[in-house]
Amino acid sequence: MSGPNTNYDPVEVAVLRPEAVQAALSAAINDIAAASSLEDLKSVRIAHTGDRSPLALANREIAALPPAAKADAGKRVGQARASIADALHVRQQELTDARDAQILVDEVVDVTLPAQTGPRGARHPLSLLNDRVADIFVAMGWSVAEGPEAELEWLNFDALNMPAAHPARTMQDTFFIAPEGSGALLRTHTSPIQIREMLRREPPLYIVCPGRVFRTDEIDATHLPVFHQVEALAVDRGLSMAHLKGTLNAFASAMFGEGITTRLRPSYFPFTEPSAEVDLQCFVCRGASAAGGEPCRTCRNEGWIEWGGAGMVHPRVLQSCGVDPDVYTGFAFGMGLERTLMFRSDVRDLRDVIEGDLRFSAFFGGEI
Ligand code: PHE
Repeated sequence: MSGPNTNYDPVEVAVLRPEAVQAALSAAINDIAAASSLEDLKSVRIAHTGDRSPLALANREIAALPPAAKADAGKRVGQARASIADALHVRQQELTDARDAQILVDEVVDVTLPAQTGPRGARHPLSLLNDRVADIFVAMGWSVAEGPEAELEWLNFDALNMPAAHPARTMQDTFFIAPEGSGALLRTHTSPIQIREMLRREPPLYIVCPGRVFRTDEIDATHLPVFHQVEALAVDRGLSMAHLKGTLNAFASAMFGEGITTRLRPSYFPFTEPSAEVDLQCFVCRGASAAGGEPCRTCRNEGWIEWGGAGMVHPRVLQSCGVDPDVYTGFAFGMGLERTLMFRSDVRDLRDVIEGDLRFSAFFGGEI
């Protein structure tokens, strides 16, 4: 049961005396002024306005005062607490402003400083050339085909009319994949891509096959054991050497300049019959040096530059791929990309092409 508190009925409580309230207020004001950071101010706020602060405790005593004393004490404590709240508010604002100003100083960015930029990346000249070749053929309606670099011996040799004991196999020194007799190798040319496509698709077929190829060659200024080829294959009804020549000329013009032509010289490849070496008309002197004009470094005064191999697809190759040679004929040609880059861009040493020195790529304009 609650009832009037007759035992405790003080007329005056020590903590509510004006001097005590004033002392609590002064202590609070001093501490607030002394707070030098927002964290400090937070502790000061708890100490002077929290539940256990002197004025909060004093406030609780007011209820026990006789009615006449209540108003007076209430006013005194209330005013002191309001002053503290005001002082806290003002100091909070000052410290916040100071902190924000300091952040602006600490995190200042001098936009006038010279920028530290790394060298800009660029695509490799071989990749650019590769894309350019692909673009030329795609523009003629051909498609690009790719295949695996680790290839089946049958696709790399047998299907191309080079059975196991065929002497032509020695024309391409080969990396076979262990164990011996695995039937796998690193492809020595991009021709197996063409076999894959003929096995997979029905003619007519117009494809260009770029890719990395591998041969056991020593590295020197003109040889690499890993290099790139691009081969083209067309299989359709009624294709002839004339179509081959026309395609080569269109390719030469697109790549080296309007009107640049090609020349075919009889040659031998097991997978084409007839076969030919492809020469490119010198795109610098256009044959003038060979006719007694100014000497030309690009063609060494030959007027022509050896470019690649070509021919009509051997009927046996068509048969290996299930294509009827009585209905369809095909032509194919292939060239080395590094070699093309060398004479097209006057690269003297193939080792520059593979060493990854940015100064080499940058020379090509840093095209991305
Ligand atoms: N694949 C041949 C080689 O690597 C090049 C070639 C392709 C020859 C197409 C004729 C026809 O030597």
